Order: sequence, then C-alpha cells, then structure tokens
Amino acid sequence: MNILLLGSGGREHALAWKLAQSPKLSKLYCAPGNAGIAQVAECVALQVTDHAGILDFCKSNDISYVVIGPEGPLVAGLADELEQAGIGAFGPSAYASQLEGSKGFTKDLCAEFNIPTAAYKRFSEAEPAKAFLDEMSLPVVIKADGLAAGKGVIIAETRDQAEQAIDDCFAGSFGKAGHEVVIEAFLEGEEASLFALCDGQTAMLLGTAQDHKRVGDGDTGPNTGGMGAYSPAPVMTQEMIDRTMSEIIVPTLAGMHSRGYSFKGILYAGLMLTQEGPELIEYNVRFGDPECQVLMPRLKSDLLELMLAASDGALLEHDAEWSNECALTVVLAAKGYPDSYEKNTVIEDIDKAEAKNALVFHAGTAKDGDTLLATGGRVLNVTAIATTVSDAQSRAYDAVNSIKWENGFCRQDIGWRAVEREKT
Ligand code: AMP
Ligand code: GLY
Repeated sequence: MNILLLGSGGREHALAWKLAQSPKLSKLYCAPGNAGIAQVAECVALQVTDHAGILDFCKSNDISYVVIGPEGPLVAGLADELEQAGIGAFGPSAYASQLEGSKGFTKDLCAEFNIPTAAYKRFSEAEPAKAFLDEMSLPVVIKADGLAAGKGVIIAETRDQAEQAIDDCFAGSFGKAGHEVVIEAFLEGEEASLFALCDGQTAMLLGTAQDHKRVGDGDTGPNTGGMGAYSPAPVMTQEMIDRTMSEIIVPTLAGMHSRGYSFKGILYAGLMLTQEGPELIEYNVRFGDPECQVLMPRLKSDLLELMLAASDGALLEHDAEWSNECALTVVLAAKGYPDSYEKNTVIEDIDKAEAKNALVFHAGTAKDGDTLLATGGRVLNVTAIATTVSDAQSRAYDAVNSIKWENGFCRQDIGWRAVEREKT
C-alpha cells in the first residue's frame, strides 16, 4: 500500500525509518519531510496545514493510509476529512484530539471518570480566575486552554505572578489558546511519560520515556520542545506502569467511548509520579518528539501493521514485540535555540556517527546539492541502543562527537536521572 506520512521533525524521521521496513509498504511519501526523511521516502512539497492539497495528493497518488505526525492537523480535523474521503488515517478525530487541544476538556473528562489529576477550575474571564486564587496555595499553575506550542503553562510562585499570568492569557499572549484559562494545583514529584496505542476500546502499552525539556545542563534555562530522551524510564516501575494503565489510560478510553467518540491513535500521557501515585499532567494525541526517536528503535514488530490494527479497532488480535535494550537520543540544536538562531549552516560527517552504530534522525535539515544544511532549531537526534541507559548515553555522545557542526550544541547530561538510578 502507498502511505503518506505528515510532518518534518525527528519524530517523523523515526516513523519514516520504521514504516519503510514494513513488508506491507509499497511506497512511502512524506510531506513536507526533511533531508533525512528523503533517504527513506519521497518528500512532497505540501504543508500539513494544506488539507485540500493533502486530499488531492492522496487521490492522485493512490494513497490508502495517511500517518499524521503532529497535533496541529489532528486538532484541525484532518483525520475526519480523510476518512470522509474514504482514505484511512492514523490519528484521532478532531473531537478526540481535544484531549490535547483543550486542557479544560481533559480536566473535565478526568473529573467525570475519576482519573487522578491536579485539582482545577476553568475560567473564561480574568476576575473570577483571580478570585479563585484565594482558594489555591502557591505555587499555582496557570494554563492557556488551547494549543500553545508547549508555552502555555506558567508555574506561578507568587500571587502577583499568578495574576499577571491570568492577565497575559486573556490579553492574548497565547492567541486563541488563551481565551480560556485552567488554574490547577501544583503537583510534586518526578515527571515521566507513557505511550499507549489505542483502537477505540483497547490500549496497548508501547513504552515509557523521560524527556529533557530545559535547554541547559542540570535542567536549567528556558523550556524547549525537548533536548533528549530515553526509553524505558527506570522510574516507571511495573507497578507505576500498571497503575497508569488501569487508573488513567483505560478509564480515559472508556470515558471517550461512552461519550460516543472513540479515541484511536497514540495517547501520550505526561505524568507526575506523586506520593499518591501517577497523576495526569496532560495528554498529547501523537508521539512525542524526541520520545518517538527512542521508541521506534526498540520496536521489533511491524509499525504499519500495528497502526492499521489500531485504526480498524483490532488491536486485541495483535501483540507488539520490543527489544529489552535501552535507547537514548541526544538532540543537536542550532546555537541560540529556543530563541533566534542562524539558518543554513553546514553540517558534516553524519556518516561517521552512523558508522558508530548510531541512528541519526533529522529534524530541521535540508540538502543544497551534496551539502547538508541546518534549517531549524532542533536539527539532529543522535540515537544509540545498549543494555543500560548509561551505555546508550556513552555511545550516543561518542557518535555526537563525530559530527562536525560549528553552529550546533547539545546538552551534555541527557539521561542523568536514569544513569543515577543505575548506579544504585
Ligand atoms: P504541559 O504543557 O501541560 O505539559 O506542562 C508543561 C510542564 O509544566 C510540565 O511538563 C510540568 O513540568 C509542568 N506542569 C504542568 N502542570 C503541572 C502541575 N499541575 N504541577 C506541576 N507541574 C506542572
Ligand atoms: N517532547 C514533548 C512533546 O513531544 O510534546
């Protein structure tokens, strides 16, 4: 079958790399893709926001299934539009994508189905939101309701900061995302993520991971899309996994189903492991980036077959086989990221990193003739596998050091939590 993958990040390169290995695949296209994806798929100059263009492309190229990487087109209803046109899609409907697209929607679902999450209230005006602060202790968490590219969450240490955050949201700092605000209690604990593949009724555990959101070593500096990750996350013990599945994932699927809107696709739970157990911080309705880059190398089964089974509501008849090894990925970003950075700087010697058995997934890259250029903020994901996270870390950094890119940088401590745990 002919498949169209949508997106252009490291996540999509990891998906393309894995999809390309499927015996079910005839031809893989990717829109818009990047220079790494172009090694395994034919890249098409279409943006993921161009739904009409995507539908036309599918019809004229005999595409029977579209794998949607990022959340934007899912929240905007692309999976529904494709299905109406008789084209299969991997990813949830617009209604089900509200699990990522509206924090208030998710909090209400949690309240209705008794899913552990921080206490909260939703507001559409500033004054009652500020008055509610009287009932909350500090720090308190202020969130813009909608999609804000990971920037719509403010952890306010003081009442003034909280009021300022409320004013900023309603004044349009996060655009439409801030028309509604969620105020919630601050949860203490360690963060981890769990990924489940869902077919509407059944959830299959894919794995756990930990991301590194801050730009600097020791988790300092501004938030980013993610500077590195590893899987599995040792902090997610079997007990934590079982509790997350039974207390959070399964009731979410059942709740959505009972509302008449099944969730099909990837449910990515951002968790806080509190003293009481795992609590939901947020849902995403797609793979994480860079978490996907550490999940795909560990998956032994055919990804395409699993995705199709999820879309068909047939996951119960499938099992997935995973490597017992650990994967770790280090993100190389352009100097200046997450603020402004130079574009079109030259990268060399990726083949030397690959010769060290690393997988190098591209994000913001493009080719100019034979020259590889960095075109984005996050640019490469250097990924290694080994029996421990510590070994995967050494291998990944050894490969990173083979790459020549004057304008690039990376964190030097990806994996530190797991490496500490492995020492004890
Ligand atoms: P989100 O965009 O919802 O993932 O939030 C971004 C980050 O804010 C999370 O990864 C957490 O580090 C932090 N965060 C969000 N909600 C809470 C909460 N209720 N308590 C503590 N930290 C939170
Ligand atoms: N790595 C965080 C995310 O994909 O949202």
